[in-house]
Amino acid sequence: MNLVLFGPPGSGKGTQSQRLVESYSLSHISTGDALREAIRKRTPLGLQAQAIIARGELVSDALVTSLLREKIAPLRENTDSFLFDGYPRTVPQAATLAEICDEFRLQPPATLNLHVPDELLIRRLTGRRICPSCGEVFNIYFKPSTLAGVCDVCAGPLVKRVDDDPETTRERLRIYHDQSSPVLDYYAERGVLYTIDANGTTDEVFEKIRSVIEEHY
Ligand code: AP5
Ligand code: MG
Repeated sequence: MNLVLFGPPGSGKGTQSQRLVESYSLSHISTGDALREAIRKRTPLGLQAQAIIARGELVSDALVTSLLREKIAPLRENTDSFLFDGYPRTVPQAATLAEICDEFRLQPPATLNLHVPDELLIRRLTGRRICPSCGEVFNIYFKPSTLAGVCDVCAGPLVKRVDDDPETTRERLRIYHDQSSPVLDYYAERGVLYTIDANGTTDEVFEKIRSVIEEHY
């Protein structure tokens, strides 16, 4: 089984990916995480992507696709079940993913679309705090750490993502509606789009995702 977890920034793709990976033994590929890793390591690709991400814009299809291929190739030796988080984000990327699945002999993915109203997305994103040491994600409104600014898991300091300030968040949402939402039509036309109301607790959303998967796969 291959899944695309699709949705606007803050819809819970990363949060639900963690749960899905545990429950269905999927190999998780998040292009956002991969880009942030490339920035941390100061690779040529990371250096190109850094300013683009900080502005809340999309990295070019060519760059992000080369990163995706790099991630899939070694994992494919041991698995045929992937969870794509944050890719595709444009219609050309959706077409490329179909080609990549063919090339790597993977089943075409089903797409789970997490639907959340914009006002709530802004609150989720501006409230997010991450632990750069262990990767744990918190939220000052919805999932606060026990001690403000301190990770519950490793006691490291929590930080905001560079693109989670209010202005960049609004730009990311604008770009989502303009450039990414047409991907929904692409998958709907192919009969593999499942939209989930993701305006609920993490557990409630996961239950909805689980029932879609159990019903169709
Ligand atoms: P990426 O890292 O993919 O960011 P994004 O799509 O903007 O999504 P987020 O990671 O911000 O949100 P999420 O949906 O994962 O939500 P999360 O679970 O963390 O991409 C970053 C950038 O990289 C892009 O802007 C672009 O520049 C570039 N990029 C990446 N892929 C690309 C591509 N394919 N093409 C071109 N450019 C690309 O949750 C958010 C917060 O809400 C957390 O605090 C969480 O605790 C909380 N939360 C989650 N679920 C719930 C819930 N049910 N109730 C209450 N709170 C919740
Ligand atoms: Mg994410």
